[in-house]
Amino acid sequence: MNVSRLLSDRVQQMEESATIRMAQRARDLNAQGIHVINLSVGEPDFDTPENIKNAAKEALDQGITHYTPVPGLMELRQAIAEKFKRDNGLEYKAQQIVVSNGAKQSIANVCLALLNPGDEVIIFSPFWVSYPEMVKMAEGVPVMVHAGIEQDFKVDPAQLEAAITDKTKMLLFSSPCNPTGSVYTRQELAAIAEVLEKHPDIVIVSDEIYEYINFGEKHFSIGSLPAMKDRTVTVNGFSKGFAMTGWRLGYIGAPGWLAEACSKVQGQFTSGANAFSQKAAAHAILHEISACTAMRDVFLTRRDLFLDKLRTIPGLKVNQPQGAFYVFPDVSTFFGKKYRDIQINDADDLSEYLLSEAHVSLVSGIPFGAPECIRMSYANAEDEILEAADRIKAALAKLEN
Ligand SMILES: Cc1ncc(COP(=O)(O)O)c(C=O)c1O
Repeated sequence: MNVSRLLSDRVQQMEESATIRMAQRARDLNAQGIHVINLSVGEPDFDTPENIKNAAKEALDQGITHYTPVPGLMELRQAIAEKFKRDNGLEYKAQQIVVSNGAKQSIANVCLALLNPGDEVIIFSPFWVSYPEMVKMAEGVPVMVHAGIEQDFKVDPAQLEAAITDKTKMLLFSSPCNPTGSVYTRQELAAIAEVLEKHPDIVIVSDEIYEYINFGEKHFSIGSLPAMKDRTVTVNGFSKGFAMTGWRLGYIGAPGWLAEACSKVQGQFTSGANAFSQKAAAHAILHEISACTAMRDVFLTRRDLFLDKLRTIPGLKVNQPQGAFYVFPDVSTFFGKKYRDIQINDADDLSEYLLSEAHVSLVSGIPFGAPECIRMSYANAEDEILEAADRIKAALAKLEN
């Protein structure tokens, strides 16, 4: 059987998720009895807060186990509308909110609802690995605009301006950012918005899923700028801030016409999200923000401990990420070096080397659009993170010209 003839071009051209692959490699080595420290994960290591679990149990006992309306339970959409107003100064009606099976599906819906073949989507780079794949699946063309560590991985307005063409339909970025942990300030977003004001037909997709893991100034939503409101899709979800990755719930606030289109797409692919997850999520968003804050504080302590150690490693360039739970060092000084017969030419080689030599699993920056970096997640116990930093330091010290 000629499988490559059977499989669609679409799926054959799609990259496998690098973060999921690395996490699997770490699990495989652990199963062989090797203590691999996993810094490749993209999810909080905390359990979902107890009160949220109890709300789901109650919902199950009440028989909330049936299909839900495609865009979500009205109770949850109203709670999200309230949250947008409370936390972000965003006025969305419940009808402008679509709940999906994770923010991943929310973004895929938007791509399918907006893009025609050849439409360009500007993606701020480094970017979350799934963005370009989703754009390509919708037959759009990803256009990367890159910012390195010297600009804290944040794109400036002039770079955005230079990338816009008459085919640009969408701008897509995350803040706080996966993989860099960078957070755009209110002033930086206002400057980005100023450029966009000159191009009224570009839809902004602002992925704010790490909103509650933010160590700097108060989170700011670009959609709350009056000139951006009617053309911004604000993406958020429960996975990161509430430690609810397995509950599969994300959502958007969007202009009514686009919310309707996303709901239409979702109605044919998956229907409404899980019923009892939605009940628990409505409780979480209205009553459990303090649990998010407590987890955020732990992440901040870990970030500082981890950074202190990483800064002692010669050759590793680190900045000070302001959110999420990632550090994204520039490791390019190690390229061209070797240890015994292991040659390090790029970030893939270096992350392989650190896995085999230091037993620390990390993700190469290549799939995030930053071949000079590697992503380290500190969503892991404090002693594991500190031990990992020591192991990385020792392994990097062995590399020579
Ligand atoms: C930037 C970003 N957006 C969206 C998602 C998707 O989250 P979920 O589908 O779990 O809601 C992730 C998950 O890794 C992410 O890092």
